[in-house]
Amino acid sequence: MKVDQIAGALGADVTEIDISAPLTDTQLNAIKVALWQHGVLAFRNQIMSPAQQLSFVKQFGEIHYHPHVKGLPEQPEVMEILKREEDLHNFGSGWHTDQMFTPKPANYTCLYAKELPDTGGDTLFACMRNGFRTLSPAMQKLAQTLETENRSFAAQLSGRNQTSAGYFGTGMRTKEATADETLIKHPVVRKHPETGDPVLYVGLHSIRLAGFTEDESKPLLDFWKTHLVQPENTARLRWQPETLAIWDNRLVLHNAINDYPGKRRRMHRITVAGAATQRWTA
Ligand code: SIN
Repeated sequence: MKVDQIAGALGADVTEIDISAPLTDTQLNAIKVALWQHGVLAFRNQIMSPAQQLSFVKQFGEIHYHPHVKGLPEQPEVMEILKREEDLHNFGSGWHTDQMFTPKPANYTCLYAKELPDTGGDTLFACMRNGFRTLSPAMQKLAQTLETENRSFAAQLSGRNQTSAGYFGTGMRTKEATADETLIKHPVVRKHPETGDPVLYVGLHSIRLAGFTEDESKPLLDFWKTHLVQPENTARLRWQPETLAIWDNRLVLHNAINDYPGKRRRMHRITVAGAATQRWTA
């Protein structure tokens, strides 16, 4: 297996491995180790039916079902991300890590490109491990003592009197959420369960710090969110038809760029279930 970095901080293209066949233990381990190092891996020119994508992803763990989006009728584990020509907003815009609004956020997400606009529709990634490492020692110490409170984007929309179906369009098979959805706490500095590394675990679902008001939390949350996504801490994945990518939600944030008005983009997504988050302390 050949791994070529696509940017300085994170991201890699992987070649010289057949992922359409069941992986050997050695191959699976090599992919996981590359994921824990690079955060997001892209495999090009993969011909994958929903069932084949599912077989690939199942090798990484139990499948997670999105609480606010229904799966495909013929393959419920696969969620279709669709922006149609007439839709204004895209699903997955804004820097986030998947299912941070649940007590056990998804470990991995696998996305497969079905239909792409002729230009645009890339996905950005940012490294939360670098995000923590590049804070000052004093800020690292403070961050370790704090927790975020997190709410789904669907519930945030509901709080603004908007429905998911109205916002994303009816092409996405969304389920509505209520504005009073329980806030879920996570440590600001999360321990990566595989490498033991600290990551600065903050994204768009983080609406305040536990014990603080939203106004009090805002300066720190805004600082961390900006710090995490400085250009030198990011990579840009340029999708091609039949690109399959997999990323580690415990290590990277992502942001689907909405720069293709009037064009159609369709992706198949499968997520792998995760475990309760653990605080990292020095
Ligand atoms: C997401 O899973 O947040 C969507 C990413 C994308 O469509 O590029």
